[in-house]
Amino acid sequence: MHARGSTNRLMPQHASLFAQASLFGEIARTVCSAGVLPRKELYEAWELGRRAHRLWRNHHGRIVDFACGHGLLAHVAALLWSESLVVACDVRFPPSYDVLHQAMAARWPALARVSASADVVLAKNDLVLSCHACGSLTDDVLQRCSDVGANVAVMPCCHEHPHPDKPRHALSGWLQADMTIDIARAMRMQAAGYHVTTQQISDDITQKNRLLLCAR
Ligand SMILES: C[S@@+](CC[C@H](N)C(=O)[O-])C[C@H]1O[C@@H](n2cnc3c(N)ncnc32)[C@H](O)[C@@H]1O
Repeated sequence: MHARGSTNRLMPQHASLFAQASLFGEIARTVCSAGVLPRKELYEAWELGRRAHRLWRNHHGRIVDFACGHGLLAHVAALLWSESLVVACDVRFPPSYDVLHQAMAARWPALARVSASADVVLAKNDLVLSCHACGSLTDDVLQRCSDVGANVAVMPCCHEHPHPDKPRHALSGWLQADMTIDIARAMRMQAAGYHVTTQQISDDITQKNRLLLCAR
């Protein structure tokens, strides 16, 4: 098994690492052909997407990949929920977004429906996915979803940034600050009426591996 958490870019010559006849294998080979994505991003997007799909398999509404960056999660979602409109949302799209979108849509023409937007007005029937929205941006995502009652899955990162829950969380004498921040997030969503599920993706992919799934 190769190092799944590698930050080395997947290039066309790496396609042979993903010979498996599966949707994941096909996505991985397409990502290799694009030549723009670090290896860990492939696994992060896939893990978040497939775990959310397991929970919300019957979702038929819109899906938003919030703070999408390269946008692979949006494209994975568009494959898993083949009937949903999918919006990739970011304030600043990196060049990798267009390259990846072209490669994915060339392999799966239905993925041309993934649209890119600098912002979205969320609605109750949306499913919002957000992978590594830095620091308090994850809280903004959760709050915006909670405001309208949308289902949401986040995998937070950048807990080292200044954060309002750091100094005052009751458990900060026992737990690492990043854990207290994520616990506060889970509790807030529960108090807002969500059924909260916590999971972790494998830490050989990323240390920022806590997944918070909040179902209305
Ligand atoms: C660490 S990157 C994560 C990108 C991608 N989701 C991933 O997993 O690699 C954080 C992204 O958040 C975006 N971002 C920052 N502020 C934002 C905002 N207010 N609304 C939407 N996206 C934002 C940045 O442009 C950046 O692409």
